[in-house]
Amino acid sequence: MKTLIKNGNVVTAVDNYTADLLIEDGKVAVIGNKLAMDADRFIDASGKLVIPGGIDPHTHMELPFGGTFSSDDFRTGTIAAAHGGTTTIIDFAVQSHGESLIQAVDNWHKKAEGKTAIDYGFHLITTDLPDERVPEMRQLINEGVMSFKLFMAYPGVFLVDDATIYRAMKNAGAAGGLICMHAENGIVINEIIKHALAEGKTAPKYHALTRPTKAEAEGVHRAIAIAEMAEAPVYIVHLSCADALEEVREARDLGLPAYAETCPQYLFLDYSLYEREGFEGAKWVMTPPLREKWNQDKLWQGLAGNDLQVISTDHCPFCFKEQKEMGRDDFTKIPNGGPGVEHRMSLIYNGGVVGGRINVNRFVELTSTAAAKIFGLFPRKGTVAVGSDADIVIFDPNEEVTISSATHHMNVDYSAYEGMKVRGVAKTVLSRGRVIIEDGKYTGKPGDGEFLRRGTFSG
Ligand code: URP
Ligand code: ZN
Ligand code: ZN
Repeated sequence: MKTLIKNGNVVTAVDNYTADLLIEDGKVAVIGNKLAMDADRFIDASGKLVIPGGIDPHTHMELPFGGTFSSDDFRTGTIAAAHGGTTTIIDFAVQSHGESLIQAVDNWHKKAEGKTAIDYGFHLITTDLPDERVPEMRQLINEGVMSFKLFMAYPGVFLVDDATIYRAMKNAGAAGGLICMHAENGIVINEIIKHALAEGKTAPKYHALTRPTKAEAEGVHRAIAIAEMAEAPVYIVHLSCADALEEVREARDLGLPAYAETCPQYLFLDYSLYEREGFEGAKWVMTPPLREKWNQDKLWQGLAGNDLQVISTDHCPFCFKEQKEMGRDDFTKIPNGGPGVEHRMSLIYNGGVVGGRINVNRFVELTSTAAAKIFGLFPRKGTVAVGSDADIVIFDPNEEVTISSATHHMNVDYSAYEGMKVRGVAKTVLSRGRVIIEDGKYTGKPGDGEFLRRGTFSG
């Protein structure tokens, strides 16, 4: 099957030029000017950007959390991702306490197999790592699961102690793996929560008020310090505020291999949403919580200056009516997380490029290329180049849409961005050369997404 994309404005993390693209057998075969080759299919990309498919390295499909499961599974969540121009996700498998790491990843393979609309990889949320399990970590790295998420938060559920963090970093780092850190001091936070509940503070806004930015900054500081002692790189997930960013900036200024992502919710939404009447604030109960608005400019500066390298979504939706409701009388029982996988590319294009905060190359880098490089997928993914997978988005930089749960494809009954107008829309999406989104319709087949065996960390 040959597809010829004509007259597009090809944008990568470094280039911006007009060209034609011939796709053959799922790969970019030729890039050139006025290509006259024959093809089975022609796509006119005049006036559009031709960009690498988005890579969202932080999603939670069907995540077990707080007695329920996130409401998108690998079918609905990846179809929604595709609609928004994301062609690869890296989702989080979870190790139950005492479970083998290999078994945990196998369980997630079973959840995803035959369902995904786009290519996918796994990180492993590691909840305990005794010495005897370390060889399993090495085995997973060799099998393409090179990244592991550790939690400093959620004592009794996910939290691991500093010894485990050090052991994981030392061993993963030596074997070409990467530790992703949920950096929040969960022990102190739990103490603050205990006092809040004792004072009858049960509304959703107390989720935010019991998780101070200092708790996140302390976690980031500790994570980077332990990584330095372990002589390993570290990647901070869902960084939400200026205090935490400052810790990453200081480390990077010293030349340490510290990396961090932020997410659209921390760039566009803020604490005031928790003050909405009644229980509505529960829609934005996620961890870390939304912060005061002034943090947003600092995060954009961090993105522009490369102290933050990646924008992921931390997509982890729970329905408002049935699932968020579980915490109506106690904010600690509201399942943590929110929807976002579908709108990341449009939100960042609109807020970043249209908003004049980053240029279009940086947009591609933040939404695709950097994640490919950090998570062992480059150059197969994350760029438009001869030999790369033809994961291509034909992106209209001028079309405007209004985000709404009435039109989105995520399996959740509200939008975190309801009513927000964004300019920049994924019009046609190709996954390894197959057109999977056309004119707003999903034209692929769930199950066509492939598991990605990722390479090792190369910095
Ligand atoms: O609230 C969140 N972020 N839920 C998903 C789990 C996590 O910590 O990433
Ligand atoms: Zn987390
Ligand atoms: Zn997450």
